[in-house]
Amino acid sequence: MTEEDAKDSDSINNRAIVEEICKPFLLSDDTYQQIRDIFLDEIKKGLCKYTHEKAAVKCLLTFVEKLPSGCERGKYLALDVGGTNFRILLLDLHDGGDNLKLEIANYELPESLLTASGRELFDFLADCLYAFIYKYELQKDELSLGFTFSFPLKQTELSKGVLISWTKAFNCSGVVGHDVVDLLKEALNRKGDIQINNIVILNDTTGTLISCAWEHHEAKIGLIIGTGINECYLEKTKYIELFKGGVNASPTMVINCESGNFGNDGSLNFIRTPIDLAIDNDTVNPGKQVYEKMISGMYLGEIVRLILLECVNAGAMLKGGHSDQIRSPMSFDIKYMSQIEGEEPGNDDVARQIFDIMGYKRSTHEDCENLRYICDVISTRSANLVAATLATLVNRIGDPFVIIGVDGSVYRMYPNYAERLRKKLKELARPEYKFCIKLAEDGSGRGAALLAATAFFNKRNQ
Ligand code: GLC
Repeated sequence: MTEEDAKDSDSINNRAIVEEICKPFLLSDDTYQQIRDIFLDEIKKGLCKYTHEKAAVKCLLTFVEKLPSGCERGKYLALDVGGTNFRILLLDLHDGGDNLKLEIANYELPESLLTASGRELFDFLADCLYAFIYKYELQKDELSLGFTFSFPLKQTELSKGVLISWTKAFNCSGVVGHDVVDLLKEALNRKGDIQINNIVILNDTTGTLISCAWEHHEAKIGLIIGTGINECYLEKTKYIELFKGGVNASPTMVINCESGNFGNDGSLNFIRTPIDLAIDNDTVNPGKQVYEKMISGMYLGEIVRLILLECVNAGAMLKGGHSDQIRSPMSFDIKYMSQIEGEEPGNDDVARQIFDIMGYKRSTHEDCENLRYICDVISTRSANLVAATLATLVNRIGDPFVIIGVDGSVYRMYPNYAERLRKKLKELARPEYKFCIKLAEDGSGRGAALLAATAFFNKRNQ
């Protein structure tokens, strides 16, 4: 055997090992159908008054009973909090051609605040809101605010939301079990002269749906795939057993599924790999948000790192060498995955740069190809898993045509993600139900301001 032949045969063997390590992440069509069907059972458990308390997929009431009509006018604020970046928006709805104007300010939440006290977190939000209101000279106006708070909330009305638990990387003390609208009002009061009496609270998925519904009446599902993953949809109130609507109740209400928690009763154990279990173990909320931890931007890079580590341990990549970075949890960011998958096939420049950042100066073409393969397997599993639960919702709504409003960094920025999701959803939804997935950019914030408009416009004009 020549040296060249030996190299080729090593290459083939190495690739076989990498593929073997990735195998548990490649799920069959039958498995995705199974997941779709299990999710329907979970939705039913969440909606049923006898099983709701223990249900993994909580199906939370949002009290959003109607979507904007398009007739609302005036200025409305939104505060959109759900990750390390948060935003304040000012929406101006007026007559005329382009009747919607938005001013947006982006802020970064200092990382230390993610695990600080709730009081510190809300004081920080109030400071930013205060500065924004002064900047736009709104301090004398009667202000209405849509507050997007992208965590599971137990709502009893549109302007009350008690935090059930923190998700993603948040864990501020003194917030779980409290109404976050009250916490925000208290923080604003501590600042002094600004009063915002009209506040509605919502989830980012709900905001995205509302934002999309402003333009498209067929919009009935909201989806976020970013740091977290979640879905909401328009349900018939007759199936929402926890809702005591009375005679004037609207026939539908937006339900916040809190899909990220799907699987934490063991229903997804049949697809979880040892790597999924290891990741879960290392989070601030082990055993929770099982589905989210296989899908969302916060975890995908870490899944890739652990697979890469296994390949290195098996001697199939990077000559079996361990760098400090490859051993450090969370060192492989999802943005590396995006960059690798965004590069033209056959071109290794980006992958090599990323190996370099990961402490490997001498990666080979084969290493780069293998890394690209791993990223593809993991991002495809993510998109397919989302498609499975979306299919449940499309089938449940049962409209001949439905629009899905979507936002979130993974959906927006990950190469080919949107296309993979659409393709799998087409396979999994019943063929008689057509759908269209529409990007609702700024959806969660814009939707919050629109919800405030829907809730308070008539009140203001009475
Ligand atoms: C997490 C939150 C959920 C939110 C989602 C997307 O899953 O629990 O409320 O909608 O992230 O931000």
